[in-house]
Amino acid sequence: MSRKPFIAGNWKMNKTIAEGVALANELKDQIAGVDDVDVAVCPTFVALAAVGEAIKGSNIMLGGQNMFWKESGAWTSQISPQMLMDAGCKWVIVGHSETRGRFGTVDDELAGALSYFGDNDKTVNMKAKYAFASGLLPIIACGELLSERESGRTDDVITAQMKVCLDGFTKEQALKMVIAYEPVWAIGTGKVCDSDEADRVCGLIRGIVKNMYGEDVAEAVRIQYGGSVNDKNAAELLAKPNIDGALVGGAALKADAFATIIKAAQ
Ligand code: PGA
Repeated sequence: MSRKPFIAGNWKMNKTIAEGVALANELKDQIAGVDDVDVAVCPTFVALAAVGEAIKGSNIMLGGQNMFWKESGAWTSQISPQMLMDAGCKWVIVGHSETRGRFGTVDDELAGALSYFGDNDKTVNMKAKYAFASGLLPIIACGELLSERESGRTDDVITAQMKVCLDGFTKEQALKMVIAYEPVWAIGTGKVCDSDEADRVCGLIRGIVKNMYGEDVAEAVRIQYGGSVNDKNAAELLAKPNIDGALVGGAALKADAFATIIKAAQ
């Protein structure tokens, strides 16, 4: 079965509203007519509505970078899937290592405050389930730390994360989920994961999906690689059989680099 590639840009805490709209407009021009790759951008919450307006009617979809598992209420600082959809979102990233407090390199100031970024596998699962229930589609992120890789625990860590994060979806939901394999040590470091190894771990994830949801879901589910993807290394990664797309951070902040990555997926 062939899976439609999916390239998503995670803008993280970058771009003002005006800068985000300008980036979206530039990207729109550069990938006009590309219809064989799914493309999404995930701006900051405050820029969502304006960027959503700018890409209306184009081949670019909108995503949020996080969400909470309630529709509304006394949850200071949180954003619901209903609010994301109201701003035009179709997608939401859940469980990014930066919202889990798992950073590639941690400075002293941050180390003492990591509990502030409180996601864990269980809350990631709750977010994904509530996203589905609300009509939003989750990009569910996982990935090992450098220390976990170096101690030979990569496969155990990924398996443990996936078993909890992917638990309890309906088959129909599981068919629509997107998983992002993002080794934490590769995020924002310029140290991209070797393409064969990235493909191997994405294959491991596909096997976990097969055990949980069956062969047809495993064949249909799209698994992105993320971590220092750029316009130079994208083609090699995207050519791998188990890598169906990319979750792109830094290189998604420049329209030409991001457009090159998208075209590499065609
Ligand atoms: P990066 O970030 O491309 O800047 O490494 C990827 C991500 O965190 O999603």
